[in-house]
Amino acid sequence: MIVSKVAEALGAEITDVDLSSLCGNEWEEIHAALLEHQVLFFREQEISHQDHLDFARHWGEVQPHPAYPTVEGFPEITILENDPETPPKIEQWHTDITFRPDPPLGSILRAVVVPPRGGNTEFLSMIAAYEALPESLRHRLTALGAEHSFEFGFKESLAEPGGRERLAQALIDNPPVIHPVVRTHPDSGRPSLFVNSLFTTRILGCSDSESAELLASLFSHLEEPRFRCALQWRPGTIAFWDNRCTQHRPINDYWPAHRRMERITVRGDRPFFRAG
Ligand code: SIN
Repeated sequence: MIVSKVAEALGAEITDVDLSSLCGNEWEEIHAALLEHQVLFFREQEISHQDHLDFARHWGEVQPHPAYPTVEGFPEITILENDPETPPKIEQWHTDITFRPDPPLGSILRAVVVPPRGGNTEFLSMIAAYEALPESLRHRLTALGAEHSFEFGFKESLAEPGGRERLAQALIDNPPVIHPVVRTHPDSGRPSLFVNSLFTTRILGCSDSESAELLASLFSHLEEPRFRCALQWRPGTIAFWDNRCTQHRPINDYWPAHRRMERITVRGDRPFFRAG
């Protein structure tokens, strides 16, 4: 397989590999590439729903999403689909499902219908963003925790007519959780920021105004172009991101064209910070 870096902070494109028939070495190479590049783009993958699921299960237990529709016969595969009747709702930077105590290790997103123009997905590295902070701020942040909330992230859907009823069970199952503001990657040991503007509501242990100010400054730092890369989708493209140290956002400039993606998330572990 050929691994080509796409940007300084993160991202690599991988060609000359077939995700439906990987052998021992190739799994190891993909794992090493994921740790190094944080998000991988595989091109020209003609894979089935079962292949998608088998690829995801190699990395761990799959983690269904509480709020989105799923593929018939494959409750593990979430559908993210927009067309003239269904405008996209989220264009905000986020890390998937940080409202859970054990947010995903990674997400595997497959392009099914690619719009004729636009519809890129952008990614950012929370490792690069952390490393670029001044030492004194890094030190201060390692002592802090932050709240992440399903209700906060899905407030627009909840405000729709019938939204609260549709998501009633998801609200009960997903009370707010606390994660460290700086997270140690469980495989590489590298520290990264771990807050995102979609789900993180507040920093604990400081006043509301201090928390709001600190979060705003962290979000604006994370979103600097130097920590990003972009993926232009083609039919057959699959993205696999390390959800422990990256954020992403879809660019909704394609709408009202049709765009359909199918995503599987793989359960991760409870975020922790370890000094050193
Ligand atoms: C996602 O937020 O997981 C999906 C991103 C996309 O549709 O580009």
